[in-house]
Amino acid sequence: MCGIVGYIGVKDARSIILEGLKALEYRGYDSSGLALLDKNEFKIYKDKGRIAHLCEITDYSFETHVGIGHTRWATHGMVNYDNSHPHISNNKRFILVHNGIIENYRKLKIDYLSDYNFYSETDSEVIVNLIEFYSKKMCTDSAIRKAMSKLEGSYALLIVDNENPDVIYCVKNKTPLILGMSNDGVTIASDIIAFPKDVNKYFIFEDQRIAIIKQNDVKIMDLMGFEIKPEFKDLKLDEYNISKGNYDHYMLKEIEEQPDVIRRIITKYFDDDNAVIDYKLIDAINNSDKINFVACGTSLYASFMGKYFFEKLCGIPTECFVASELVYSNPLMTKKPIFIFVSQSGETLDCITVMKKYKQQGFKIISITNSVESTMAHYSDFVLDICANTEISVASTKSYTASIAVMSILAKAVSNKKTNLKNNLNRVSQVIEDIIVDLKPLVKDMAKKIQNSKAIFYIGRGIDYWAGDEAALKLKEISYINTDSYSSGELKHGTIALIEDGTPVIAIITQEGTNSIIRSNLAEAEARGAKGYVISLESLAYSKDDIIIPNVAHYLTPMVSVVVCQMLAYYVALYKNNDIDKPKNLAKSVTVE
Ligand code: M6R
Repeated sequence: MCGIVGYIGVKDARSIILEGLKALEYRGYDSSGLALLDKNEFKIYKDKGRIAHLCEITDYSFETHVGIGHTRWATHGMVNYDNSHPHISNNKRFILVHNGIIENYRKLKIDYLSDYNFYSETDSEVIVNLIEFYSKKMCTDSAIRKAMSKLEGSYALLIVDNENPDVIYCVKNKTPLILGMSNDGVTIASDIIAFPKDVNKYFIFEDQRIAIIKQNDVKIMDLMGFEIKPEFKDLKLDEYNISKGNYDHYMLKEIEEQPDVIRRIITKYFDDDNAVIDYKLIDAINNSDKINFVACGTSLYASFMGKYFFEKLCGIPTECFVASELVYSNPLMTKKPIFIFVSQSGETLDCITVMKKYKQQGFKIISITNSVESTMAHYSDFVLDICANTEISVASTKSYTASIAVMSILAKAVSNKKTNLKNNLNRVSQVIEDIIVDLKPLVKDMAKKIQNSKAIFYIGRGIDYWAGDEAALKLKEISYINTDSYSSGELKHGTIALIEDGTPVIAIITQEGTNSIIRSNLAEAEARGAKGYVISLESLAYSKDDIIIPNVAHYLTPMVSVVVCQMLAYYVALYKNNDIDKPKNLAKSVTVE
């Protein structure tokens, strides 16, 4: 996790880095810091807390054109001043910011740095001292390459040197780093959205590379010191619109963007009623004997709908895997599986690790992602864009519905069957609009009723149960209420023991075949003191149901039921005065194992 930004150029480095860090705060917000060149020496400002606090403690009294900055999601050590970045080497020559985790940092300390003092508990402070250690015998870039050769783990590093202050060195392995050029300077950051508006060219830094960056000169080398020519791409930054507009929170803005996102997907992937997907991708799926979805969190819950589409529409056996579980286990594979990774960010390390593992074994890889320039996209044979535009709120919303929409289109294209999918997706976008406008008062009312609960349960069956998984994740991550989702049939096998007087149990009912059985299961919970709530589809609704959603095609209902639950989570968190876009302990992009 963590976000890093560096700038070297003619403009004010301080404001470019602080603005960049604000844009990267979604990656972690435990502490922050920066190092700015004042004449011939770097000055460091850092503390626990957010970028707003860093802005307050930064000195604005000097001109500065070179600097590096960091926003932290703590991995090694408490959230405090000492563990905040930048870190400085013992002789005060090198200063560094780090995103990633060095797995062998304890061993490196023992093997090379036993004479060094350490002022933090971080793995990052080991790197900066290792660079100092080698710099005593060689030039700076060789010292950095030598240090890199000893590091095991993931890292994106920006390093500055007080003895040669007009240069930023950057290196990377497994953790994202992007370099952007404008006419008057170079910015390096964890994500494009941290770039200033005038960046017009960029390139994605490859693993095991070092860049030596001067104001108008970028030199890239591999670990052996051989120069590599970077391939720059043009950049239109309006595509990365990250303003909050009139909204108080990104989350609500992103919930309300969903109808537009779905329409954008329809425009991109349909030609009349035909789904337009690269025929090589279709062939690759048709030539496989099983589809394996791999994802985490919200993207995992969206993947269950992918499984549903591919099995129902295409008759292809499909399984969904939790990415982190596949890192260490080796489930039996069929002869010709194909892997579909679903990831909003395209930077989730658990997914990347699994992706590399199965790519090495020669299997074809598809990514469904919101970041077509991401690491995952880079390693994939095929990439499908979910067209959701930047998602800032830590709680994913639009990427869930967008991923499901793209998976449904892919399954349709593979099946080559005539379906009414385009109209049905259009209908979904209209219904989400209706939910946002018409159902908001009811959702707010329900949020008020459940806001002080100790625990909440979502129940459903089949696709309503999968929607419940996502609904529960949304509610727990921003309201901090212990929320879980169960197949309603499972309640009586243990969980019902947790029902106390007034415990909210929210049933999602959108499928005809399971309507009455879910209601019976809810009644069983109510008989034991639960306060039951029902979110149902109009055609199946009872008049006393709490939230009734206009009808959509039966196989797309999670795209609408979850929107109600996203709004419910939002208003519960709002009434509890929680930090909605940046919930505690979390970060948007999970780039650690
Ligand atoms: O970027 P990804 O889709 O790979 O992220 C996966 C999860 O970390 C993410 O969905 C997480 O669960 C969200 N915070 C949920 O709202």
